Amino acid sequence: MHRVSLSRFLIEQQRQGTNLPPELRLLIEVVARACKAISYTINKGELGGVLGSLGQQNVQGEVQKKLDVIANDILLDANEWGGNLAALASEEMEAIHPIPHRYPKGEYLLVYDPIDGSSNIDVNLSVGTIFSVLKAPEEASGRAVTEADFLQAGRHQVAAGYAIYGPQTTLVLTFGKGVFGFTLDREVGSWVLTQPKITIPAGHHEFAVNMSNQRHWAPGVQHYVADCLAGKDGPRRQDFNMRWTGSMVADVQRILTRGGIFLYPWDAREPDRAGKLRLMYEANPLGMIIEQAGGAAIDDTGRILDIEPSSLHQRVAVILGCAAEVAKAAEYFTRGR
Ligand code: AHG
Ligand code: MN
Ligand code: MN
Ligand code: MN
Repeated sequence: MHRVSLSRFLIEQQRQGTNLPPELRLLIEVVARACKAISYTINKGELGGVLGSLGQQNVQGEVQKKLDVIANDILLDANEWGGNLAALASEEMEAIHPIPHRYPKGEYLLVYDPIDGSSNIDVNLSVGTIFSVLKAPEEASGRAVTEADFLQAGRHQVAAGYAIYGPQTTLVLTFGKGVFGFTLDREVGSWVLTQPKITIPAGHHEFAVNMSNQRHWAPGVQHYVADCLAGKDGPRRQDFNMRWTGSMVADVQRILTRGGIFLYPWDAREPDRAGKLRLMYEANPLGMIIEQAGGAAIDDTGRILDIEPSSLHQRVAVILGCAAEVAKAAEYFTRGR
């Protein structure tokens, strides 16, 4: 097999004149290196003393796992000194983290979910890391970066990606010109290009939703899922399979591989129509990847990447996957409102 490493792939992309300036290329390499370190840490499991909870809550109101904090610190340490960032923000940190004065300040903003699916850690199932890169506003170069600088709609992301720590460790990347997949060769310690062009296959009838929340959903979502469950004898005239991994990256990886749809809808326990998932750390980066792979990503009213964020930790309903199936689901939401 002719092996193309991540470094070579990125340099060749840059030479081809794609929208990948050297500073962004280096930033992506640093994030990918941090994901390697997270992968090795997760793999040690009980032997590394990394399992279990810390007995404290994060800003999301969730009990933090040890690995949430370890992975957050790995990403922070790896990215702080490189000179390409102006500031970072994370699901696990209440406030933004401006680059300290001892390091040069760059023009990018890095937003990340250090461990996605952290309830899977202790039961040895897939977890991941999600990241999104934005450009700091030009006028921010002469002053301190603020939270408001981060509040940009997802369509302004210049890159997004995720790593999955599963049976294999894989990295999926986009910088707005398609979606590329890499597999970690653990012996060499190198990311190798294994999926040069990822597109979502059409026609696979599989949905992912946490069914235990069914009674709380809006009528349109109830109706959509009920018709999927009705199978061949129902109005969709089609049997559907169901999967729910508890880790959004793993569900997205499955959709990129074999198609289908993922829903984490708003439900009645959150009367302001917010969902559970975070716009900046989860919905925007995964929405960009799904769109770049030919799919669609919406909340229950419109395109996720067009939402103007109002706060860093904002939550949002998420429906994403195969474009035709997302459009079908959207018809139900419009009718059920
Ligand atoms: P995180 O571990 O970063 O807090 O994210 C978990 C998210 C997402 O990955 C997953 O799809 C969803 O929460 C699972 O929620 P349920 O526990 O309601 O199934
Ligand atoms: Mn969390
Ligand atoms: Mn997450
Ligand atoms: Mn997380």
